Amino acid sequence: MPLSVSSVIALRAQHAAWRAEGQRIGFVPTMGALHEGHLSLVRLLKAKADRVTASIFVNPRQFAAHEDLDAYPRDLAGDFAKLADAGCDLIFTPERAAMYPQGFATSVQVGGVSEGLESSARPHFFGGVATVVAKLLLQTQPHCAAFGEKDYQQLLVVRALARDLDFPVEILAGPTLREADGLAMSSRNAYLSTAQRAIAPHLHGQLQSCAARIRARQAITPALRLAEAALIKAGFDQVDYIALRGPEDLAPLPGPTLDRPARLLAAVKLGATRLIDNIAVEAAA
Ligand code: PAF
Repeated sequence: MPLSVSSVIALRAQHAAWRAEGQRIGFVPTMGALHEGHLSLVRLLKAKADRVTASIFVNPRQFAAHEDLDAYPRDLAGDFAKLADAGCDLIFTPERAAMYPQGFATSVQVGGVSEGLESSARPHFFGGVATVVAKLLLQTQPHCAAFGEKDYQQLLVVRALARDLDFPVEILAGPTLREADGLAMSSRNAYLSTAQRAIAPHLHGQLQSCAARIRARQAITPALRLAEAALIKAGFDQVDYIALRGPEDLAPLPGPTLDRPARLLAAVKLGATRLIDNIAVEAAA
């Protein structure tokens, strides 16, 4: 079983001991309810670092009042077993009151890449993520940290945060892991009913079809509108966005057709459950 600590003092003591032995530390922040996507990040860091620490903390600051903070899936015993299996060395489970004590009044806001897309539907989200990730990076002070490409905009926000505030950490990206039918792994997939679960893989399917059209030099805007209509036809209740953006800055592309590598990103709702996904779109040679 990995070591487990819940105080920052104990975390720092263990990390200081590893550093004193010259060991490199990798870090995977999570909100628990772990799936293979999270575990692949632990394995990615096992190859880059001598020790891997994972945190489990359901961060209230990235949920709006009407969102699923209380319902967010929690399975601490299961998570510990999975992290042990993946070779994690230390699990950090801070208490909410220790992360955000009475009087906590600081928030970290990243501009640029955090604007639009997810922020249009969840304006509070990246402030909450940047604040907790900044705290976790300062608490753990890892050599490298890994984030999944499934949350692509979040990955770019964390990269911008580390770059702009000079965090001495290498931010690594892990590829999206998918179920056999293409659905991107996500802790929130647990909310889906059987009927919704059958609809959910169409998100990835429509991203792929849309990307194929765009790669074949069809005009970008009509291809996006076609995919949006197809998602509603497939049974999704709402399309928050489907957008083609620059892979580094998430800036809209000039169009009308693809002339550079891009990222196709989408967010949809199935009942109360919000699903996001994205894929790379390379311009054909
Ligand atoms: O992606 C997540 O699970 C969360 O947003 C993160 C990065 C652990 C911050 O709470």
